[in-house]
Amino acid sequence: MAEIKPVRKAIFPVAGLGTRFLPATKAIPKEMLTLVDRPLIQYAVEEAREAGITEFIFVTSRGKSALEDHFDRAYELEQTLETRGKTAVLEDLRSWLPAAGSMMYTRQPEALGLGHAVWCARHLVNDEPFAVLLPDETVLNEVGCLKQLTDVYERTGGNVIGVFDVPREQTSKYGIVATGDNDGKLAVVEGLVEKPEPDVAPSTLSITGRYILMPEIFRALDRHERGAGNEIQLTDAMMHLIGQMPFHALRFRGERHDCGSIEGFLKANIAFGLARADVGTTVKDYVKSLDL
Ligand code: UTP
Repeated sequence: MAEIKPVRKAIFPVAGLGTRFLPATKAIPKEMLTLVDRPLIQYAVEEAREAGITEFIFVTSRGKSALEDHFDRAYELEQTLETRGKTAVLEDLRSWLPAAGSMMYTRQPEALGLGHAVWCARHLVNDEPFAVLLPDETVLNEVGCLKQLTDVYERTGGNVIGVFDVPREQTSKYGIVATGDNDGKLAVVEGLVEKPEPDVAPSTLSITGRYILMPEIFRALDRHERGAGNEIQLTDAMMHLIGQMPFHALRFRGERHDCGSIEGFLKANIAFGLARADVGTTVKDYVKSLDL
């Protein structure tokens, strides 16, 4: 088997328009919406760091500068916290800041699709395996979703994507995986089908926003083929890699939330609130008290 290179780089595509969250996203990026007290992007960056990522590549667009500021020092704020003796808050603020020089930013000039956003980062990734995390999808679990994927990758090499089960009647809303060998947890990917009707869907396993991909995908993305919604789709480019190299789908552990939709975002706030040591009991008591 070819050498399995470590995954050190992660791409965070954050150039989307976030139209489902207007007007909230008129002046702030969707990825800055908060679950409890931290923005979606911070969960994604922390998940990547847990998985061993040391280089964080953001594909941004106009109006997204709050994302860059969030991962920078804020001297005036830090000074004020220090003067007021807010040591714990200050320590927390500093604890998750990425090391100097580990954040990279490039722009996607036009929102032409997720595949195009990933392609925009090609010169920062070069010839290395890399991860992609969509910050508007969150997975609540003790071991992060990307760490679960990198653990598999270290054994299998090649592409590894996270998948979760959807009700069969909903397959037409998702990208669905056709599987070969399947032990119930890890499956060989034999095909990917965008939004199949329930009666023809090859499985009920849907692609989620966590990927480990080999750099060969850039060759497929170079073609700029338009797919569903006339967008350059990452799924379409992934299809070109099937059969060329190992390609696995992991049914990851944890609860997945689609924070890109209003319903999913509201549910995620309840789930993440319940999971928090500081506010969990209050949220639980409140939910229980509702006379629904
Ligand atoms: P979405 O499909 O959720 O699109 O993108 P969106 O624009 O963010 O939101 P809506 O549908 O208008 O409400 C999934 C992920 O891919 C990124 C988004 O930022 C999000 O993280 N993306 C999508 C890009 O970076 N560029 C694109 O051209 C499209």
